[in-house]
Amino acid sequence: MNALFFKRFLQRPFQIASIVPSSRALVERVAAKIDFDRARVIVEYGPGEGVHSREIARRMRSDSRLLLFELDPVFCRDLERQFADDRRVIVLNRNATELPLEMDGRGITHCDYILSGIPFSILEIDKKHALLKATYDALPPGGSFIIYQVTNELKQHATIFDHAESEYFLQNIPPMFITEFRKGPMVNGHAHPARSRQNHLEQFSSRNSA
Ligand SMILES: C[S@@+](CC[C@H](N)C(=O)[O-])C[C@H]1O[C@@H](n2cnc3c(N)ncnc32)[C@H](O)[C@@H]1O
Repeated sequence: MNALFFKRFLQRPFQIASIVPSSRALVERVAAKIDFDRARVIVEYGPGEGVHSREIARRMRSDSRLLLFELDPVFCRDLERQFADDRRVIVLNRNATELPLEMDGRGITHCDYILSGIPFSILEIDKKHALLKATYDALPPGGSFIIYQVTNELKQHATIFDHAESEYFLQNIPPMFITEFRKGPMVNGHAHPARSRQNHLEQFSSRNSA
């Protein structure tokens, strides 16, 4: 049991939404979805005590950056302590919704990967859609948004993405859906393959049938 994590859960149960951090197996499964050779900017929403952040920092290039958006100030202080000697890692005691502002302020044009552990299911519908849109806009064509959640409810809302692949991962307490949403690659200079909205939705739901 991670004492800091459990204490923060007791303080803010709906925001933290879990009594234990992700398992080692889940961390490795999520990290395996990232191509660290091409990942220059990686963003994490809701790192908590940093179980995914440490693995990402361990694997990422020396010229890459990792931006951590964490609402809880106690977790942030602990993350700052952990990454005090790693200039690639930026701890932000901010809501994930502030990603576009942070990108502007830091001259970041896009984020190659965005990883999320925040409890999306408790967000109000308009906030959920706004965060999905901001996330999509922050990615380049071919970029990925990777989430792990107890339910896979986000898939019905995340239709702005061009591809989605889910798996149900049992080696975590509780088991989690890991879903990778992708922004379509460039086709003839365009970010989105030309196709009708209906076609888009059909492709989305058949790929994302977990
Ligand atoms: C379920 S915990 C996940 C922690 C960690 N990623 C893990 O896998 O163990 C969710 C974390 O998201 C943070 N959080 C919730 N909503 C957030 C938001 N809108 N922006 C940033 N962080 C948020 C919480 O404070 C909490 O630390």
